[in-house]
Amino acid sequence: MNRVWWKEKIIYQIYPRSFCDSNGDGVGDIRGIINKLDYLEYLGVDIIWLCPICLSPMVDNGYDVSDYTQIDPLFGSNEDLEELIRKAGEKNIYIMMDLVFNHCSIEHEWFKKAAAEPGSEEAGYFYILDEDDERSRNNWRSVFGGSTWSSLPDGRRYFHTFAKEQPDLNWENPRLRQRLYDIVKWWIQKGIKGFRVDAITYIKKDTTFSNRYPTARENLFMVENMQNYPGIGEFLSEFCEKCFRDNEVVTVAEAPGVRAEDVKKYSGETGYFSMIFEFSYADMNKLDPGWSVAKFRENIFHSQKVIQDHGWYGTFLENHDGSRCGNKYICDDDLDTFGDIPKKMLAVLYFCLKGTPFIYQGQEIGMNNRVFRTGEGNCQDEIDDISTKGLIEELLKQGRPLKEALKEATAKSRDNGRMPMPWNEKENAGFTDGIPWMRLNDDFHVRNVEEMSKDKDSILNFYRRLISLRKESEWKDILNYGDFVPLERQNETTIAYERGLGEKKLLIICNCSASIEKEIPEGYGNILLSNYPGEKEDKNILRPYEAVMMFQ
Ligand code: GLC
Repeated sequence: MNRVWWKEKIIYQIYPRSFCDSNGDGVGDIRGIINKLDYLEYLGVDIIWLCPICLSPMVDNGYDVSDYTQIDPLFGSNEDLEELIRKAGEKNIYIMMDLVFNHCSIEHEWFKKAAAEPGSEEAGYFYILDEDDERSRNNWRSVFGGSTWSSLPDGRRYFHTFAKEQPDLNWENPRLRQRLYDIVKWWIQKGIKGFRVDAITYIKKDTTFSNRYPTARENLFMVENMQNYPGIGEFLSEFCEKCFRDNEVVTVAEAPGVRAEDVKKYSGETGYFSMIFEFSYADMNKLDPGWSVAKFRENIFHSQKVIQDHGWYGTFLENHDGSRCGNKYICDDDLDTFGDIPKKMLAVLYFCLKGTPFIYQGQEIGMNNRVFRTGEGNCQDEIDDISTKGLIEELLKQGRPLKEALKEATAKSRDNGRMPMPWNEKENAGFTDGIPWMRLNDDFHVRNVEEMSKDKDSILNFYRRLISLRKESEWKDILNYGDFVPLERQNETTIAYERGLGEKKLLIICNCSASIEKEIPEGYGNILLSNYPGEKEDKNILRPYEAVMMFQ
């Protein structure tokens, strides 16, 4: 067993805008995070990943960066961040920054110069083509909708994978790459211990930009299909060598679509990054046509096999780009009937997998999706997320009635996971003294940190137990390093696996249905944990949505 420090950590993701507001402007900030460090210590997490906090016009809530070394005043100052690094460090908590290097913002100095001066060095930092260049009229659809090409005032056209305000950086240009590496080193010197690397699978382009076979309506080709384009490995190797290899930092890349055989190149001790996020099951949703528990299990098992010997995943169920896990995987009626039991079951299911677990803020208190007021007519003014807006526009163009378009677009909207964190039952849930930038759900009176910390059976205290099992218990090595053994079962709605290390074995069995399940594998007599409160009386059955960890 080869110990690796970042394999033993628990990472907590903060969406700063919605975590805690210290100055009453309705938007969360760095000082708010400093004020909540005691809470993060109480929860037991080791690293906090901050979604982007650098200067930005906030078209994509910070994922459009106009200065990579300046904190946006909305979130505070560079000094605030340094204080956070120091104070978190006193609690042995590290800070992980979001690195958004596939693109920047149209307000970045580099882009402004590129737009103003065609012959400038900065013009070479982007993909800019002449107005009449055919390639700039290709059929590629950007991630947020519309063409991947937009015009500069002088008619030249520039490429953007995401919104038109997020021009892609040209990684083919060595001077650009060096400038990006310098930024990383600058942050490491400030005490940043980790990086979450945004949208990195897009950095290598097919520079012929030729039309491709349409994969979306209106003859469009989804740019998502261009991820991990051949040649990307050269960029990633250099990036890793220059920035991370010699530094004691942890990196996690947003890298969907990496082929199973390439995962060991992308992750693990010798990979480009420490780990990559595993999306195959996290991206599933009960609203999708192919959804079933059996398929969910298949994706989980398959992904675990991929990293059995090499490579490493950041395991997660929620992030700032999607729905809350209860809403994603559990049918609505069962959420009403069984309260937080199914959400605790999901927690056990992914927390015991091989990989470094990530918890997204609010997941630990079982936050639900946002309740949009779609039913009451036009809720467009309630929508913040740029991709949801893009989708609504597209659906309307296709002739769908407004009400229907809103319903479809909000069901999986990224706004669902971006609501302010409820800290207590007071006005605005203790998130802000001002007017929150996004309305809170009505359930914050009962679903908030203060209430849940008082209840020993709350989902919050359940997460704390899981965290301490992974970090402090006699089971920690098996959970961090043990083999993963899938248990293939007849039952369509149970997910069971073993973790094993030497002589030691743990069984994890999760009932993903509202029925009673009777097939508990033999040989496991002792219960380590169940998501139901109290002693478990009958060891031979699993109650609805019950999850248990058992040992021999
Ligand atoms: C990543 C981020 C997402 C952002 C996009 C563009 O997917 O997670 O929030 O919109 O990159 O930077």
